[in-house]
Amino acid sequence: MRTLIQGGTVVTATETVAADVLVDGEKVAAIGTGMSVEPDRTIDATGRYVMPGAVDVHTHMDLPFGGSFCSDDFATGSRAAAFGGTTTIVDFALQDYGESLRTGLDRWHEKAQKSSIDYGFHMIVREVNDQVLQEMDTLVGEGVTSFKLFMAYPGVFMLDDGAIFQAMQRAADSGALIMMHAENGGPIDVLIRQYLGQGRTDPVNHSLTRPPVMEGEAVHRVFKMAELARAPAYIVHLSSRDALNEVREARDRGVAAYAETCPQYLYLSIDDMARPGFEGAKFVCSPPLRTVDHQEELWKGLVADDLQVVSTDHAPFNFKGQKDLGKDDFSKIPNGLPSVEDRFTLLYQGVVDGMIGLNRFVEIVATAPAKMFGLSARKGTIAPGFDADIVIFDPNHERTISAETHHMNVDYSCYEGRRVKGLPQIVLQRGNVLVENGEFFAKEGQGSFLPRSRIST
Ligand code: URP
Ligand code: ZN
Ligand code: ZN
Repeated sequence: MRTLIQGGTVVTATETVAADVLVDGEKVAAIGTGMSVEPDRTIDATGRYVMPGAVDVHTHMDLPFGGSFCSDDFATGSRAAAFGGTTTIVDFALQDYGESLRTGLDRWHEKAQKSSIDYGFHMIVREVNDQVLQEMDTLVGEGVTSFKLFMAYPGVFMLDDGAIFQAMQRAADSGALIMMHAENGGPIDVLIRQYLGQGRTDPVNHSLTRPPVMEGEAVHRVFKMAELARAPAYIVHLSSRDALNEVREARDRGVAAYAETCPQYLYLSIDDMARPGFEGAKFVCSPPLRTVDHQEELWKGLVADDLQVVSTDHAPFNFKGQKDLGKDDFSKIPNGLPSVEDRFTLLYQGVVDGMIGLNRFVEIVATAPAKMFGLSARKGTIAPGFDADIVIFDPNHERTISAETHHMNVDYSCYEGRRVKGLPQIVLQRGNVLVENGEFFAKEGQGSFLPRSRIST
């Protein structure tokens, strides 16, 4: 099957060019003008951008957390991702206490059978011991080449510095990447107990008990340990100026220091957590939303490449029946926000508002995450030989984000009522149309597992 995408403007991380794209089977065959081919199908992309399918390297489908499961599983979450222009996700497989990495990973392979888009896995490591260290090598051999560790949530996810350092050394030996949830969980837990003791139970206190200085401190420690272990390290969901400054400082010293932020830290703030009643619970995630002044600094970090990636950290919980577990105690509100469908368009508002350029936008949402996480032989750009994962994006389409119209399996939107420009109108994966003009054409389970290369940062 040959498809010719005609008349659009092809946008990659490095070029913006009026050109046609020829897709042959699952791959991009050629980019150019005046191609003399007889395609089986022609897609008219006049007036629209032809961009690589987006790569979201931080999602949590069906994750158990805080006495609940994320409300999107791989079926609903991957469908919503496709509507939003994302054709590849890298989700976090979870090791339960007392179990091997293998058991946790197998469980995630099972869950992901329902994915409609291509997917890979990182592995969350909750316990470090000799067996786990050996298994890390095995997983790297199977294409699971990154491991997330936590410095927060004592008794649930948190590892001590010795365990973190050992995992970093092992990752350095095997070519894996350590991803860190960087918040200092000890003092944070003390603050939480103190606030609750004073009757401060509202959602906004979630942010007040997790101050930016404790994120900055943890990021500082990550890169000092990474330097000692001669390992690259990547900070997930970076939220604050304090943390970003530590990334900058480490990069200036020559440490292989990397970080992502998320749309919620660019567009939402602690003011949303302080909305009247229990409304603020919709915005409870960790690290928490910060004061508005942090946002501008994060945009600067994206421009300067001190932040290389924007991922969603998609971890949806319904307002009714899940977030309300914490009605009388903010520490019981499941942590996480929905946004797998919104990232592409939200970030595009950065182009509309003049915060980033169009090519940098593509780099941030597709090319850089693919490269950082070992997918750049197939994903993240439009070029001959690459998977034909393509978004035909109408930059002039105006719409309002709403839970009424989104496809995520969650009963609210953090961006309810926000006017945005741009719509991923046609979305292809490996040459097949997933979404066209609001209709979904993929079959549940048609996504493939993507073994990833070792990290070449
Ligand atoms: O609040 C968050 N971020 N929930 C998802 C789990 C994590 O720490 O990434
Ligand atoms: Zn985290
Ligand atoms: Zn996460």
